Amino acid sequence: MTGNPSSSGKIWLAPMEGVVDHVMRDMLTSAGSYDFCVTEFIRVTRQLYKPALFYRYCPELKSGSRTPSGTPVRIQLLGQDPDWMAENAVRAVELGSPGVDLNFGCPAKTVNKSKGGAILLREPETLYKIISAVRAAVPAGQPVTAKMRLGYEDKSLALDNARAIEAAGADGLTVHARTKAEGYRPPAHWHWIARIREKVSLPVVANGEIWSAADAEACRRESGCADIMIGRGALALPNLGRVINVGEEPMNWAGVRKLLLRYASIERPDHRGGFLPSRIKQWFTYLRHQYREADEMFRDLKRLQDLEEIRVMLSEEA
Ligand SMILES: Cc1cc2nc3c(=O)[nH]c(=O)nc-3n(C[C@H](O)[C@H](O)[C@H](O)COP(=O)(O)O)c2cc1C
Repeated sequence: MTGNPSSSGKIWLAPMEGVVDHVMRDMLTSAGSYDFCVTEFIRVTRQLYKPALFYRYCPELKSGSRTPSGTPVRIQLLGQDPDWMAENAVRAVELGSPGVDLNFGCPAKTVNKSKGGAILLREPETLYKIISAVRAAVPAGQPVTAKMRLGYEDKSLALDNARAIEAAGADGLTVHARTKAEGYRPPAHWHWIARIREKVSLPVVANGEIWSAADAEACRRESGCADIMIGRGALALPNLGRVINVGEEPMNWAGVRKLLLRYASIERPDHRGGFLPSRIKQWFTYLRHQYREADEMFRDLKRLQDLEEIRVMLSEEA
């Protein structure tokens, strides 16, 4: 996963709660050829979840934990109790997740209040306990990976956290190169990932603020990581993975409309009527970064509530 920065590194599709669910993973892995996906986080409380919950977050478990285009999907857990994290990690793997990823980066207030996500970056020893427990419980050969930010308020514990993650036996580490306090404000501090790589020898994936092939190259160069993870940029430019790794032309607006129509046609029996219209509008907020046409269409589309009307608008433009 690490090594000399090169364009042949792997590209991960980032976990994004409330945005990148199994249908979006299908869209983006078919358009963008990602090497790996991570699910939205499952928040672990003091219980062992039933398989149904894991299947809800990761329906791909029923097809070898791969998206329809064949990209492996790993379940992500978020929580602070080592034993319950371990029990749920074992279940995730038993159900077919290729390893498990642990979230130490979520900035949400409700999550941090109950001592989950980024707040744990104040306590490297707690990270150590959680990861050690999960690593000890999950069968050898099934990777246990972690995802961290550079810190909570500041970066003073970034290296300690990375060392704790490695000492606990994690098999890989993704670094979102910002603190919780920095939120999603540019820039991402890729050079900090290089500092972390100097201190640990586990494979590191660089994440944050990659929107183009040029960003990917700069991130690989500054971080020293061949492997990168992409979140919002993948939603803004659906074939970004291929643009970066094989030099494909950025998808044109006609291609995006086709993808949007496919997205709008997938039945969601488990969701209420307003769900898909709001998810489509949410996707447009990312597409507007990249496409002038998305910006123009959004002016009318944002007023529509009815899925059929949205489908008509998308196909009229096609
Ligand atoms: C709406 C949203 C939801 C997110 N949900 C998760 C999540 O469930 N688990 C996680 O580890 N990171 C989550 N993240 C963080 C992303 O995985 C990623 O680290 C961050 O967006 C920076 O990458 P980017 O600049 O490529 O978007 C989320 C980010 C956003 C914007």
